[in-house]
Amino acid sequence: MVYQILGILLGLSFTLPIVGANKKCLETVDAQYGGLHTNCSHIKTSRVPEDLPDNTTTLDLTFNNIKTLYNNDFKYLTQLRHLDVSFNPIDTLQEFSFHGLDSLLVLEFNGHNLNYTDISMPLEVFTPLQSLTNLSLRSDISRFPNRQFIIPDRVLGSLTKLTQLNIDMSSDFHSGFSNLTELKELIVGGTWKHRKWLLCELSLLTKSTFKVFSNIPVQLLQLNSCIIKSFDEDFLQPFPNLKTLLLNNITMKNGNFSHLIPVLHVFEYKNMTEISINRVVTSSKYLGYNRRLDLQLLSRICVEKLDLGQNEINIVDFDVLFTVPYPPFTKCIRRMNLSANRITGRISLHFAPFTFATLSMMEDLDLSDQMVFSFNKYIIRALPPVAHFNFPDPIPIFIASNLRRLNVAGLPHEIGELKVDVEFISANNLEYLNLSYCGLYNMKRKVFGLGNLEILDISGNSLSIINLTVFDEFPNLKTLRASNALLDNDFLAQNGRRFFRPLRKLKNLDLSSNGFVFIPNELFNSMVTLKVLNLAQNNLITIPDVTQLVKLNSLYFNHNAINTLRYETRDMLEKTRENNKKFQLHLWGNVFICTCEAIPFLLWLEETRVNLDRNNYSCVESSGIPTSTKAVYKQWTSFNRKCVSSSWLNLAIGEFAIVALTLIVAFVFSKNKMKLKLLLLRMTGKNIYPKKRDDFVYDAFIIYTDSISGWVCNELRNELETNRGIKLNLRDRDHLPGGSRADDLSDAIRDSWKIVLILTEEFLRSDLAYFTMCNCLSSIRLTTPQRLIVLIDHQINLTANLDFLLEAVTEDNILHVDLRDPLTIAFWDRISHAIKLKNDINI
Ligand SMILES: *[C@@H]1O[C@H](CO)[C@@H](O)[C@H](O)[C@H]1NC(C)=O
Ligand SMILES: *[C@@H]1O[C@H](CO)[C@@H](O)[C@H](O)[C@H]1NC(C)=O
Ligand SMILES: *[C@@H]1O[C@H](CO)[C@@H](O)[C@H](O)[C@H]1NC(C)=O
Ligand SMILES: *[C@@H]1O[C@H](CO)[C@@H](O)[C@H](O)[C@H]1NC(C)=O
Ligand SMILES: *[C@@H]1O[C@H](CO)[C@@H](O)[C@H](O)[C@H]1NC(C)=O
Ligand SMILES: *[C@@H]1O[C@H](CO)[C@@H](O)[C@H](O)[C@H]1NC(C)=O
Ligand SMILES: *[C@@H]1O[C@H](CO)[C@@H](O)[C@H](O)[C@H]1NC(C)=O
Ligand SMILES: *[C@@H]1O[C@H](CO)[C@@H](O)[C@H](O)[C@H]1NC(C)=O
Ligand SMILES: *[C@@H]1O[C@H](CO)[C@@H](O)[C@H](O)[C@H]1NC(C)=O
Ligand SMILES: *[C@@H]1O[C@H](CO)[C@@H](O)[C@H](O)[C@H]1NC(C)=O
Ligand SMILES: *[C@@H]1O[C@H](CO)[C@@H](O)[C@H](O)[C@H]1NC(C)=O
Ligand SMILES: *[C@@H]1O[C@H](CO)[C@@H](O)[C@H](O)[C@H]1NC(C)=O
Repeated sequence: MVYQILGILLGLSFTLPIVGANKKCLETVDAQYGGLHTNCSHIKTSRVPEDLPDNTTTLDLTFNNIKTLYNNDFKYLTQLRHLDVSFNPIDTLQEFSFHGLDSLLVLEFNGHNLNYTDISMPLEVFTPLQSLTNLSLRSDISRFPNRQFIIPDRVLGSLTKLTQLNIDMSSDFHSGFSNLTELKELIVGGTWKHRKWLLCELSLLTKSTFKVFSNIPVQLLQLNSCIIKSFDEDFLQPFPNLKTLLLNNITMKNGNFSHLIPVLHVFEYKNMTEISINRVVTSSKYLGYNRRLDLQLLSRICVEKLDLGQNEINIVDFDVLFTVPYPPFTKCIRRMNLSANRITGRISLHFAPFTFATLSMMEDLDLSDQMVFSFNKYIIRALPPVAHFNFPDPIPIFIASNLRRLNVAGLPHEIGELKVDVEFISANNLEYLNLSYCGLYNMKRKVFGLGNLEILDISGNSLSIINLTVFDEFPNLKTLRASNALLDNDFLAQNGRRFFRPLRKLKNLDLSSNGFVFIPNELFNSMVTLKVLNLAQNNLITIPDVTQLVKLNSLYFNHNAINTLRYETRDMLEKTRENNKKFQLHLWGNVFICTCEAIPFLLWLEETRVNLDRNNYSCVESSGIPTSTKAVYKQWTSFNRKCVSSSWLNLAIGEFAIVALTLIVAFVFSKNKMKLKLLLLRMTGKNIYPKKRDDFVYDAFIIYTDSISGWVCNELRNELETNRGIKLNLRDRDHLPGGSRADDLSDAIRDSWKIVLILTEEFLRSDLAYFTMCNCLSSIRLTTPQRLIVLIDHQINLTANLDFLLEAVTEDNILHVDLRDPLTIAFWDRISHAIKLKNDINI
């Protein structure tokens, strides 16, 4: 009583200064509970506002400065169903704080500062909450380090209607919890609340941790992201009725994923909905190759969904699942996720066709991204394997008739060459098949039985040879991804229309990263249903006609080699947009040329009604300086004036200017490490993988003039070839006498891994200097990016016109020497290192 009076007095004395604070609250209709949704979030109040509408059913007080909930703060809100006071620095609850909230169903009380002593949280404080079903009571540990989270369990004993409890606990649950007889969901693990992460504090899982719940039919236990120092194999014993166990992202201080499996023994021969033990982090790194997943125990649980992804499992004894009589698991499992492990293994050809058929209820199977393979998957493609013999033709593959989604991306190293037909049997329900990065090679033959497939991903395989009529068997395909699949440009140019013709329902086509240089205009004409077309990361210089694609919403043309759009193309794009207002064009990643010739294009960029992905793109001025289309447009008047005054020059230079500009653009690219795209444009064609040292006859071609030939053939040869094992190509030794110097130069460049250009005064004066330098520059390609090494003699007078050369070379590959002095060991080591350095580029 004394408390109550005191509380009221205190309460009054504090209310006065903030009358009217609720003016800032936002009132809307509460769709869920019918009354008002009053949003007082972020209004900086330090008290519960006083005159809230009494028909408020949901009250949001999050992110304010409330430190204390006073007696009768909510007294008038008798209709309140949902109260959220999260993320206030509340450290004290008065005994009658929740007075009047008899109908409250949900209380969110997260990120508080309570220290759980009797003063901060009186014993009877929750007693009025007789209807409460959901309680989330989590402290903000970051604000409150080193605190023990011993919840006064008796405080919660009165909440007998509770069905869901989200709580931070660092010790065993005490007897007060045994009153929560309706409890169905217990959440102790890490959770997100209002985009803030609340940590799991439970680290010891003993037999007694959850003992109080023994007589309560809890169905869901969430222990995600807990850092487990030790656990008892029987810690789940009190939950015989559990349907869902979530143990994702836990860190184990002792033991590993395999040690955790035995705790599931309490569920043997039980029916469950979900077991997720995804991404177990162990403190000791996985050693050895025996990281076996034993399915014996799991096979005896009837579970519908199992997620064991990201656990570095490398061997799975699947046999137990396929041995007659089939165990409960085999009969029950509907969705299984084993993705992102490191599963390897072999499966016999006699067995393989039946694997997917036995799991009769299976709907969704994800075996993708077994990292053994995926680690290098973007670079290494499986080589054609040793030829298999005795294939039946067609190979049958039996599919469980319920299977809707099958993801085996990056699972097999090398499916190999498709030399026989494959027939899927009873795959009527299969909608999604992901075969990306499977080492599929040359689809010469066809795949039958997937007539209902809607999504197919064959990216990352080597499909330069593909059967012309392969898609005839996929009439219902809506999404086709064949990115980075080495599709042959000539094949597509000649047969593309026939090839894609059967795909009459296609909505989404991804042909990115195939090194295409040219796409015929009419290729996509028949795909009238297409919504998204992705041609990014190719080497295309122009956009094909898409006016027929009236449903096309997105055309991805990023990172191609477009440097301007011609009138016809712009006109075509305008028409496309006329037909379909939603049409969007993605051009980012192309570098345009901002020259006088490009004026109409630059104006178009500003004025077009086509939706572009940016309003500002990179471009290069005629002087070679990188700029942006916006910047040019902003100085339009001066740009234009310059163009008019120099138009006579353009006429005079004509063709040559374009060539020069292309080269300049290329150099600017290399300087900015932007893949030398333009230079590559006409040079690389299809093979876009970095070359290796072994691909060349010589390690280094040394370019030098007669004046230093003695030094090169003796000292340099001795240091690099004899002492450091670098195989050199030296003009005086390796070229046939009497040949054309220009031809010899090109041949030597072609055959050498690196090129070392020694710049001396004499070299610059020689009549082949310019030709040589240009050759050196054009030898730098995407496949051999750090190829050129330049040695500059001290005596040389570096004129500005050499910048074009040096800008194309990385800083590390430019070495200054004084050829008059003996050179140091460190110098020889450095140059040898530069020669041996692997190409690293990011594709
Ligand atoms: C809440 O009450 C106010 C007046 O007290 C009324 O104007 C309003 O319509 C009510 N809102 C709802 C959703 O019942
Ligand atoms: C409540 O108001 C805050 C701040 O004005 C806002 O960020 C939040 O989205 C609102 N919540 C709802 C449910 O409208
Ligand atoms: C716990 O919080 C109450 C109320 O804020 C405070 O009076 C008390 O000193 C705190 N006790 C501890 C041990 O921090
Ligand atoms: C459990 O609930 C009963 C009434 O339902 C009550 O009498 C008892 O005190 C509660 N126990 C605890 C520990 O709160
Ligand atoms: C309340 O708990 C039930 C489980 O008992 C859950 O399904 C529901 O989503 C929860 N409601 C809220 C608002 O958290
Ligand atoms: C995993 O747990 C760590 C703490 O151990 C946490 O920081 C991280 O956000 C969690 N990740 C996810 C995806 O929940
Ligand atoms: C498990 O489910 C099956 C049907 O799927 C049922 O026959 C069996 O009785 C259930 N077992 C238990 C222990 O509930
Ligand atoms: C777990 O550790 C044991 C040795 O303690 C080892 O045999 C087993 O392979 C490990 N399991 C995994 C999945 O790493
Ligand atoms: C399987 O788990 C991975 C993460 O481990 C997730 O990215 C993927 O979407 C899951 N697959 C399915 C089908 O849910
Ligand atoms: C196929 O799987 C790979 C790897 O898991 C994934 O990156 C890709 O998005 C998937 N494709 C589709 C169409 O879902
Ligand atoms: C395409 O596959 C079919 C069926 O296997 C085969 O008969 C045909 O010869 C193949 N076409 C080519 C051009 O190889
Ligand atoms: C355009 O992009 C360039 C960089 O590409 C940037 O420096 C410039 O500020 C941008 N201009 C505008 C107006 O956004």
